[in-house]
Amino acid sequence: MADITLDKIAEYVKICKRCGLSATRTHAVPGEGFPTAKLMCIGEGPGFHEDQQGRPFVGESGHLLDKILAVSGFSRQTNTFIANIVKCRPPSNRDPLPEERQACLPLLLKQIEIVNPTIIVLLGATALKGLIDPEARITRLRGKWMEWQGRMVMPTYHPSALLRNPELKRPVWEDFKLVIDKYRELVDPNHHSDYH
Ligand code: URA
Repeated sequence: MADITLDKIAEYVKICKRCGLSATRTHAVPGEGFPTAKLMCIGEGPGFHEDQQGRPFVGESGHLLDKILAVSGFSRQTNTFIANIVKCRPPSNRDPLPEERQACLPLLLKQIEIVNPTIIVLLGATALKGLIDPEARITRLRGKWMEWQGRMVMPTYHPSALLRNPELKRPVWEDFKLVIDKYRELVDPNHHSDYH
């Protein structure tokens, strides 16, 4: 297993049939970003645009995520890796089923092991439930650091929730402030952000 790379995982994801989502996908979406990023963002799963393009967070919520990351001094080109709990689009954008999350989880765990991020941002309830605890509540846990397998994890709201409810923008910016602080503390004391 030691020689598994991000590219090999991506190749496997494209032909994966571990769950029923493979039957309805156009393209699988392995994830992308800086291969040794110290920050990793994990979303729920591909939507329409991601399924069309085979890339994560390229639709409206992706543009918002890119904007939040950019203001915070992060980008998928320079210092951040972006992945999802499930790699294939659930039909009609329904929530991924627990068995679909379970089938896909080993691939995400391998990506986390290879990228080896210091900080993980969980975007929304599915990411929180899928990685940490199926019973966890995003409304209770957002904005609070948790330690998971030696990494610092910050749950926050999913960008699509912000698009539906602008009142969530403020808490998400507060959460990203904490992420910037932690990144300066643990990764790069000189990290530049336009925001904080
Ligand atoms: N929403 C997600 O959770 N992931 C994506 O890749 C796109 C939208």
